[in-house]
Amino acid sequence: TMIDPHQMVINAIRSVPDWPKPGITFRDITPVLQDPRTFRVLMDIFVYRYMRERLDLIAGIDARGFIVGSVLAYELKLGFVPVRKKGKLPFQTLAEEYTLEYGNASVEMHTDAVRPGQRVLLVDDLIATGGTMLAAAKLLQRLGANVVEAASIIDLPELGGSKLLRENGASVFTVCE
Ligand code: PRP
Ligand code: ADE
Repeated sequence: TMIDPHQMVINAIRSVPDWPKPGITFRDITPVLQDPRTFRVLMDIFVYRYMRERLDLIAGIDARGFIVGSVLAYELKLGFVPVRKKGKLPFQTLAEEYTLEYGNASVEMHTDAVRPGQRVLLVDDLIATGGTMLAAAKLLQRLGANVVEAASIIDLPELGGSKLLRENGASVFTVCE
């Protein structure tokens, strides 16, 4: 019997209550990756969306955006560049700060990771407040890139991140809510 690919991904996402702290339900994608058919179905959703799009590069966000982003880059025959948490990249970097529930965090990219005018797809696993994705998009724009879309597996719409990104002019694609 036929199974809807989006539903197959949704069914494999594990919700872990009270992690990493009380009141947070963590949406764990490791079972999606662990099952070979579900992993393939997930990647095919992204591949079909972007196979006819003019893209130059995939930018994946530390850490789970690396997994989806690098598979997608390989499949679309594109290069991959990492958007990393502070202090991980060895060469000359540009940083963008963003606010967490308490305190600040920042993401970094190598200054030579993109060339001005390149059409970049930004990829992560999940959009919550949208702070991480927005900071990454700003970094890419500061480097002169054209952020074609922000793509992720999961959107948590009640946290307002996808709305915030769209208000800031980004196109957003997510596989499920
Ligand atoms: C998670 C997730 C996104 C981000 C989304 O990563 O993978 O990158 O949070 O949250 P936001 O929309 O509120 O910014 P996390 O910061 O937990 O880091 P990790 O990849 O190192 O686990
Ligand atoms: N990042 C921010 N909120 C998250 C959640 N609820 N599950 C997984 N990753 C997250």
